[in-house]
Amino acid sequence: MQDLAGKVAVITGGGSGIGRGMAHAFAAAGMHVAIGDIELAAGERVQREVEEMGISSIAAKLDVADRDAVGSFADKVFDKFGEVHLLCNNAGVVTFDLMDDTSDADWRWVISVNLEGVINGIQAFMPRMKAQAGEKHIVNTASIAGIGPHEGIAPYVATKYGVVGISETLHAEREHHGIGSSVLCPGNVHTQIVASGRNRQDDVGGPDSRVHPDVQEQISAGMDPMEVGRIVRQAVIDDDLYIFTHPDTREIAEKRFAAILAAFDKCAARSAS
Ligand SMILES: NC(=O)c1ccc[n+]([C@@H]2O[C@H](COP(=O)([O-])OP(=O)(O)OC[C@H]3O[C@@H](n4cnc5c(N)ncnc54)[C@H](O)[C@@H]3O)[C@@H](O)[C@H]2O)c1
Repeated sequence: MQDLAGKVAVITGGGSGIGRGMAHAFAAAGMHVAIGDIELAAGERVQREVEEMGISSIAAKLDVADRDAVGSFADKVFDKFGEVHLLCNNAGVVTFDLMDDTSDADWRWVISVNLEGVINGIQAFMPRMKAQAGEKHIVNTASIAGIGPHEGIAPYVATKYGVVGISETLHAEREHHGIGSSVLCPGNVHTQIVASGRNRQDDVGGPDSRVHPDVQEQISAGMDPMEVGRIVRQAVIDDDLYIFTHPDTREIAEKRFAAILAAFDKCAARSAS
């Protein structure tokens, strides 16, 4: 998407962290910004910040896991702005447990937000975006945990692999719908992700205030989310499918793909014998 000024960006989970970084980056380029966040006060705070940059914005309380609510949010955004040029399905949560300690409620919560939230966003916005003339783009936030395995966060890894798969398929089907797609796969970014239990809905266990000091230390040393926002903005302009933020995470991809290719070599050798 070459010309961002005057276009409309929608960002789920835009009230904090990476979503807030994207809101600032797109507003700085003259885009109008619609924020949907389960924490309304946080979304409204970012709305005020970006409005000070001279653009028009709305913030709404939104649970991306609620399919009907995402549909109503889309109606609200199209009513206000008429068009949506950039959809950022970004809201996400994480739990920290080994697989055998991960509860059913943990699985359901992470799947409902990280995977179904992205699906709900695509289903609510895509038909009207497809019908619009001009350039359009979808950015889905996955993680480097969507590129290779990470111990202790199985539901997160499963959903982020899913988000990578959805994004790659959207990209492959581009000639049918005419919408560009990107998948954001960051390493550690200094956000509130470790405390994501603060937003856990009652039907999947309710708020979870467990602390994880080791992970918190790593995340606190992570990249500035404003920098991530600027990286995403450039990737949208460049129409990049994969958006990586940390060059040192390359080895995660190399390790996984080397193992997969070695298994194909073994398969070929077996077939030939
Ligand atoms: N921080 C990292 O190191 C990192 C790394 C890779 C990927 N990510 C991904 O980045 C995305 C943003 O996370 P972040 O790190 O900025 O965390 P964050 O907690 O700072 O921000 C997440 C935002 O999403 C909102 N949210 C949570 N549940 C929601 C729901 N059900 N519906 C709507 N909004 C909801 C929160 O209120 C918050 O404003 C997530 O998808 C996360 O998985 C983060």
